[in-house]
Amino acid sequence: MDRLWILRNVPTAVSAFAPVQRGRSHLKEICPGIYKKGKDLLTRNLNPGFRVYGERLIRIGENEYRVWNPFRSKLAAALLKGMPCVNFRAKKVLYLGAASGTTVSHVSDIVGSNGWVIAVEFSPQVFEQLLKLAERRENVIPILADARHPEQYEEIKNDFGPMDILYQDVAQPDQDDILLKNSVFLKEGGQALVAVKSQSIDVAEKPEVIYKRFEKKIKRRFKIQFSTDLRPFHKQHRFYLLRH
Ligand SMILES: C[S@@+](CC[C@H](N)C(=O)[O-])C[C@H]1O[C@@H](n2cnc3c(N)ncnc32)[C@H](O)[C@@H]1O
Repeated sequence: MDRLWILRNVPTAVSAFAPVQRGRSHLKEICPGIYKKGKDLLTRNLNPGFRVYGERLIRIGENEYRVWNPFRSKLAAALLKGMPCVNFRAKKVLYLGAASGTTVSHVSDIVGSNGWVIAVEFSPQVFEQLLKLAERRENVIPILADARHPEQYEEIKNDFGPMDILYQDVAQPDQDDILLKNSVFLKEGGQALVAVKSQSIDVAEKPEVIYKRFEKKIKRRFKIQFSTDLRPFHKQHRFYLLRH
């Protein structure tokens, strides 16, 4: 775990202190750790006073909430498109394709201080920003690795045990293979959430054909619980909720 320890302890200077708006309308918890206020989706900020991607902060009572933008996060979009609740509270989440941490930060809010988000990203440029995020959020473990080679981070099996949830948003032609390879980390009965970008797989093929092919391939290990198109938030994406 030495390498992870080093990554987690790189000193960074994040100064995203942001003014907070006070809210008036009613706050409703629609899924564990996920809130709605008017049309806005919110998560409770685990790192009060700090924004991650320019999102609005709202103070309600003692707590501060971050507005979750469905145009920036496919998970937020899937929830607004009617995906059933997934209980992320205090869970261990393996997140593939973390980028700079936009959605990771909301998942970090939701799992809370008793959960973990193991965030895998292979681009060194965006990984820098993910590291800064992890400096401020102790439940985020950033890993610079290629999700096509899960052996690069297999030590997480010993350090964290089986994962409760696998989240994948890698926009790659072999998204199905990446999911199947990484399913070894997921506990039996665990859930996987996958954003499939048809354009990344085959620009010439009809998206419906691509999605059917993906579904056929992953059915060996997963049962499809729900799937939805992500329009108007994200074009040419289908989002899947799967049971292992
Ligand atoms: C669409 S972006 C992810 C956005 C992010 N999930 C969010 O909602 O904030 C896809 C990311 O996956 C990363 N990625 C693509 N292939 C990967 C791989 N094989 N291993 C790890 N990361 C990968 C890309 O570098 C990119 O940052």
